[in-house]
Amino acid sequence: MRHFLTLRDLSKDEILEIIDLALQIKQEWQSQTQPLYLERKTLGMVFEKSSTRTRVSFEAGIYQLGGMGIFLSNKDIQLGRGEPIKDTARVISSMLDMVMMRTSDHARIEEFAQYSSVPVINGLSDDYHPVQLMADYMTMVECGISMPHTSNFYPRTQTTQKPIVAYIGDGNNMAHSWLWLCAKLGFELRIASPKGYEPKTHILNQALQEAKHSGAQILVCDNVQVAVSGANVVTTDTWASMGQEDQKQERQKAFKQYCVDSATMTLANKDAIFLHCLPAYREQEVSEEVLEGTQSKVFLEAQNRLHAQKGIMVWLQRQNA
Ligand code: CP
Ligand code: NVA
Repeated sequence: MRHFLTLRDLSKDEILEIIDLALQIKQEWQSQTQPLYLERKTLGMVFEKSSTRTRVSFEAGIYQLGGMGIFLSNKDIQLGRGEPIKDTARVISSMLDMVMMRTSDHARIEEFAQYSSVPVINGLSDDYHPVQLMADYMTMVECGISMPHTSNFYPRTQTTQKPIVAYIGDGNNMAHSWLWLCAKLGFELRIASPKGYEPKTHILNQALQEAKHSGAQILVCDNVQVAVSGANVVTTDTWASMGQEDQKQERQKAFKQYCVDSATMTLANKDAIFLHCLPAYREQEVSEEVLEGTQSKVFLEAQNRLHAQKGIMVWLQRQNA
């Protein structure tokens, strides 16, 4: 059974295959020729945390592919009242074709997948947000910033240079997912985080190990200028993730120097793009000017969630057929 829990579980070729499928699916959607790849398939969507983009893109996505999504909030289902994950997983997977889960501790989704009889997709855990990274990379491809590879569906992927991505801010689920995307595909990633807020050591070490094989270059530092200098992509994320609401004040102090503003962007490559998974907190991790500026691709990135996740669902269905 193939699941989609972290990018660590996929090969470079598989990641690029899904990206290509997503680009194809986007083209079909735009020309209104979308085949019903998942006709009569049912996706369960378990949410143990809030969501706008993930919920809407999965629910609209499965519907547009001919299936349907069932929104399962932990406020409503018995899981939220303490029914064990292993029971929930066995019960709902016996009635569904696929499950998407958003949760806190990553071990929860691993346990769910262990007991599920259908493929499970990680729609965010405390440690990873892999579906977001597929949309982010798809956006990079569309902006002509990607690893040299050929795409049947996007002629602008004929680039010759490895991109440089600068991630500014918290060493959280987004940072960890960038680490794995970089380690798998082989580009350059520079993370600048305040001391004490770096990515988790064991995840960084695993990614560094993988980087030896892929040729990826990874730097973790606390210096925004060093990270951003000459970068092709500048990205950031909230300073306080879901579940860290009580740390907001201390985090605002610790991250004060880590706002991506226009001065930061001038250090990057002149054609650099700005990405953010959203929701964004203006004048905290990013200035209004950068978020709304011409280099910002955040709304293209957000819409690409729809196409990237359709690609993931169709790919998983084919893998497990
Ligand atoms: N980026 C993202 O996952 O957004 P939501 O929390 O709104 O789903
Ligand atoms: N790091 C953020 C991402 C939100 C999409 C969080 O986990 O809350």
